[in-house]
Amino acid sequence: MQQFTTPQVSLASAPAKGTDVVVLGLADSGETPTLVGGADLARTMTKKIASPVELATQLEASTKVGATTMLPSLDGTRVLLVGVGAGALTPETVRKAAGAAVRTARSLGKKSAVKVAIDLGCNDPELVRAAAEGALLGSYEYGKVTAQAATQPIAGVTIVSTASSKEAKAAVADAQVVAECVNVCREWVNAPANILYPESFADSAAALAKQTKVSVTVLDDKELQAQGYGGIMSVGKGSERKPRLVRYSYAPRGAKAHLVLVGKGITFDTGGLNLKSADGMYTMKCDMAGAATVLAATLAIARLGLKVKVTTYACMAENMPSGIAFRPSDVLTMYGGKTVENANSDAEGRLVMADALARANEDDPDLVVDVATLTGACVVALGEWYAGLMASDHATADHVLDAAESSAEGFWHLPIPEEIAESLKSDVADLKSSGSRMGGALLAAAFLHEFVDDDTPWAHLDIAGTAFNTGKPSGHTPLGGTGHGVRTLIALARGMQA
Ligand code: BES
Ligand code: ZN
Ligand code: ZN
Repeated sequence: MQQFTTPQVSLASAPAKGTDVVVLGLADSGETPTLVGGADLARTMTKKIASPVELATQLEASTKVGATTMLPSLDGTRVLLVGVGAGALTPETVRKAAGAAVRTARSLGKKSAVKVAIDLGCNDPELVRAAAEGALLGSYEYGKVTAQAATQPIAGVTIVSTASSKEAKAAVADAQVVAECVNVCREWVNAPANILYPESFADSAAALAKQTKVSVTVLDDKELQAQGYGGIMSVGKGSERKPRLVRYSYAPRGAKAHLVLVGKGITFDTGGLNLKSADGMYTMKCDMAGAATVLAATLAIARLGLKVKVTTYACMAENMPSGIAFRPSDVLTMYGGKTVENANSDAEGRLVMADALARANEDDPDLVVDVATLTGACVVALGEWYAGLMASDHATADHVLDAAESSAEGFWHLPIPEEIAESLKSDVADLKSSGSRMGGALLAAAFLHEFVDDDTPWAHLDIAGTAFNTGKPSGHTPLGGTGHGVRTLIALARGMQA
């Protein structure tokens, strides 16, 4: 289920020999656009053909961030202009432009893989990192499931820069790891549910961890049953594919803080006995994106050797209707002993998450962050580019928002009103899994919070809207699995280092 290989990125002062596509920036600077990067190249070109700016003007090339215009080939090397907008370059402008450029270059690589050089005049290490990250994120596309051997359209990427400092080289190496792990997350999310199901997902997660300093334990259905994971077991009961709980542990020497991550891994959400509509169900292979996000982020954190302890839970189950499926009104006993009345079998995510959150209390965390494609309500509230962020307190919310901002991933702080807990009251159990439809994202968060120890800083990321792009590819964001949240979690871990 990991078919995609992220190309290799390197740093150089000029495009390598045999480069197929050179990417230059086109900035909005009033009447005529200006070229960003590629000073040398522009000079050689001017001698042979018209200046790139002249050509760009004739072709009405757009300077909109990420808009691409291919210029006529020059000695076999094509020049691709990519818009970088107006004003000073920011990391996100560069990331988007590089991503969009590589996506365009991909389409040239159908017959033989293309070598891309990106020259956006980035010399600051942070911009170099952004260019490398954007390019490798943009190289991703979910391939067909086919017996034919797949070749990756991008052979390699060079970031052209005068920066050659240790810092710039480290930034490129860092970007390679981050982008590879985001792409791993995307591959998991895109894998169809007949290929990726709890057992195969857990196997894949364990196999990838073997290449790192992450140790893994996988609880199968018998162990989950024996240890009292009533949420995960109940949700998975209707499926032939039995549930799994994957636990990653990364404990580097010298780490002080302990970050615990929890992810929703519903490999397919039919809604269970509260069956979804055909349209609502079609994209539900993405309902394990939270688990994919926390696992991929943990792999990145370990590969980067960050000095922070990370324990990660991925709650894997398939939500199916059947003769033995859990029913609305069933009372479940969750890990740790709390009982829950199942209000609606389509509100399954919070049940699997509650088990792992309760288990996480035993790990003595400094911060718990859970990630889940939890509610349609969050998609209605925030759309597809901002995920919801709810937290135990403002300081924790700000802590996570800072990490999100540094990664330029959209997260928006939503409240958990005290009064909302009222609608989680049950006549037959300690709690009911849902209640009023109003503020559904907040209610789901209030439910999860019931399973986290009172004094533990906790944040909940509802990525239902952002995890899976059904619209158009844009910038460094492909169709399908986006990996939204992976980079935020990595940034969060960076900030918690000893
Ligand atoms: N997996 C869905 C949420 C979802 C919706 C994710 C759209 C991605 C895109 C979740 O399990 C669900 O169905 N939630 C219900 C909860 C309700 C029954 C209380 C919802 O949001 O409608
Ligand atoms: Zn559901
Ligand atoms: Zn779901």
